Amino acid sequence: MKASELRQKYLDFFKERGHVIIPSASLLPENDPSTLFTGSGMQPMVPYLLGEKHPEGVRLADSQKCFRAGDIDDVGDNRHTTFFEMLGNWSLGDYFKEEQIDWMFEFLTKDLGLDPERLYVSVYRGNKDYKLEKDSESVNLWKKKFSSVGIQADDIDFAEIEGMQGGRIFYYPEKENWWSRVGVPENMPVGEPGGPDSEMFWDFGENLGLHEKSKWKDKPCHPACDCGRFLEIGNNVFMQFKKTEEGFEPLDNKNIDFGGGLERLAVAVNDTPDIFLSDIFQTLRIKIENVTGKKYGENEEETRAFRVIMDHLRGATFLISDGAIPSNKDQGYFTRRLIRRAVRYAYDLNVNYNFTADVAKMVIEEYSSYYPDLLTKEILILAEIKNEEEKFRATLANGLKEYNKWREKNSSSKVISGDFAFKLFATYGFPIEMTLEMAEENNLSVDLESFKEELKNHQDLSRTASAGKFKGGLADSSEETKKLHTAAHLLLEAMRRVLGSHVTQKGSNITAERLRFDFSHPEKLSPGQKQEIEDMVNAQIKKALTVSFQELPLQVAKDNGATGVFDSKYSDVVKVYSIGQGADRFSQEICGGPHVDNIGDLGEFKIKKEESSSAGVRRIKATLE
Ligand code: ALA
Repeated sequence: MKASELRQKYLDFFKERGHVIIPSASLLPENDPSTLFTGSGMQPMVPYLLGEKHPEGVRLADSQKCFRAGDIDDVGDNRHTTFFEMLGNWSLGDYFKEEQIDWMFEFLTKDLGLDPERLYVSVYRGNKDYKLEKDSESVNLWKKKFSSVGIQADDIDFAEIEGMQGGRIFYYPEKENWWSRVGVPENMPVGEPGGPDSEMFWDFGENLGLHEKSKWKDKPCHPACDCGRFLEIGNNVFMQFKKTEEGFEPLDNKNIDFGGGLERLAVAVNDTPDIFLSDIFQTLRIKIENVTGKKYGENEEETRAFRVIMDHLRGATFLISDGAIPSNKDQGYFTRRLIRRAVRYAYDLNVNYNFTADVAKMVIEEYSSYYPDLLTKEILILAEIKNEEEKFRATLANGLKEYNKWREKNSSSKVISGDFAFKLFATYGFPIEMTLEMAEENNLSVDLESFKEELKNHQDLSRTASAGKFKGGLADSSEETKKLHTAAHLLLEAMRRVLGSHVTQKGSNITAERLRFDFSHPEKLSPGQKQEIEDMVNAQIKKALTVSFQELPLQVAKDNGATGVFDSKYSDVVKVYSIGQGADRFSQEICGGPHVDNIGDLGEFKIKKEESSSAGVRRIKATLE
């Protein structure tokens, strides 16, 4: 079964049971400063799990894009990926355990045709300190389900008895069977929602294929063991508690949060334990076989490299599509790390020409029917990936030479100095994590403390240099400044129409004399494009359109297609400025103002300069004459 068919089956199954299918949220969380990336389907749902009303109702299902930066070092085995899709269904105070366990059993055994003999489940064993009960309710529900297909399902308290013990249902402590965004109860801040969960596992048996080691044969195995025999294919979270100073109190609603990895479900259905052999990766695998001249699965180290390259370039493709352009900070830094690490692994397989954009193109082809944004942003994604690869390739070989030279010269040292790690970083573009990884491969360590010192000194210097250079926003609220501000809205819309909807605002600085506008776009504008943009803006000015604003909830503004920087809270009301009304409406942008009332007397719009601002960001200077 193809992963895309499985996704559809799941969504159809829950649609038939009264769920509204909602689109995936971005990988970059909108309102959640606690985390850089959306790492589970539940994250964008937190306000609703806490009781806020969801506009689509109380039964929802989706396939959510997820990125787990913390798993980057585990990529290389047959099951870990940084990017993945999580199928999810939610009950917001509607159905609870009975329906969820019923439906899951039906979906897995009937719709997906999984043999119930090879399904195992886990439940929460409770904790007296928190006054949290053992989840015998779920155990009884699971027992009934298994018994309906002639299987007697015994429960085992794993804390007391190790190994399978002929059991099918296993009680585990918090580490395994408690879910919250931050893990176990001790880690939860007051106010954080969480709850016990019940997970489902597929038993691959002894034939693990490829190079995975059957460690389980030497020690007692059990469903949550990570030896490779069992794979967790889904998690039913009974999201019903909120952390308090004293312990836990029930949430107003008892909610269901189910999450299941799409690829994991697919490999269970196909009974091949290697996620990277699933259809999603097929074209990528073949491409990498072609560029390296190696065969996937023939050699353990090379297979690991294949997996890293496939995972990282898929991750980078989705991250760029959601706005994380490779850079030196925040989310963009992860995109950079992914691409550079993939390039280094490919370099070790003797690939020394650009190939990453070709792989990204295959990712886009594979996924764009479900995630059409990938197609809209294809030009940007391919250009950014290629750009990042080129930049790194230009220094990679020399950096590796330097590294080897350093090792020869310092052959008695077991520690790479902060100084040298910083040189690799600043001169050769080696992310510090890459230096750490190379060091580990050679049984060396890195003096991280002094690396951080160096980095800090360097940043202090560059900060001083840029202080005062860029002040965002409007210099004043004079009439001339207002005019240029309104012209900036016209410019953004014209660029989105001429260059594509990947263009977003990255910053602006407006005085009474000129506007300066930074925007995302991978390449220099051609003279023709500049002309077309200017003409479009001037044609609007000639129409003397009126400017007006409306106050709308952010989500409504977004649904109406307003552009803008979406950094306010979901429930916030935002101002949306429109230029032109009805069929004449040219632009709609979330903005605080101020603007002119009519664009008729802006004068003539002229682009004075177009240049690069930083990686993937261009800058326009323009005037009204
Ligand atoms: N939120 C749950 C998880 O990610 C479903 O496992």
